[in-house]
Amino acid sequence: MLKQIVENIDGCFKEILFKSTFLKDYLNTISIDSWGWINGWNAYLVDKDIWIKEQVLSKINLRFPIKYAAILKTNPNRCYEWHVDDDRGATINLLLANHSHSKCYFGRMSSESWDQYEIFECPYEKETFYLFNTQVPHTVINLQNHRYLFSIEFESLADKLKYSDIKNWCEDNNLVKK
Ligand SMILES: [Fe+2]
Repeated sequence: MLKQIVENIDGCFKEILFKSTFLKDYLNTISIDSWGWINGWNAYLVDKDIWIKEQVLSKINLRFPIKYAAILKTNPNRCYEWHVDDDRGATINLLLANHSHSKCYFGRMSSESWDQYEIFECPYEKETFYLFNTQVPHTVINLQNHRYLFSIEFESLADKLKYSDIKNWCEDNNLVKK
């Protein structure tokens, strides 16, 4: 599973400097009657005319076209297996709910023991987008309450588009800290 061994936390994720202005409240404005299924997630597709309202996504989409966006739901008291995404090299995530009880970690093999991961936590601040390296082992531990996550998939998948490509471009365009 270990496709990439990261040097540091910057290799796992980067906080995007422009906060959500629209999607942060989107979940409160809709009622979702039926959930689909995408890559093992309960998912609700978000139309392009909705997510494009976020200027930062609109800008990134011009350089790295976004194939689709969705809200992903996780039930209470669930954790995901440590994994790397099959197809996605990177994504952009925004946690919409359950900030206190939902944890997301990236990991790398510990030098002390083959049985341990050294972990880096994504803080998932409210209203904050994160660029994620989905080729680094990661997991989610969701405690009480449902977890709702806005997430995207780029048109180009892991074989053509790397986290570092997007990260470098975002740094050059002052969307993330260098
Ligand atoms: Fe994943």
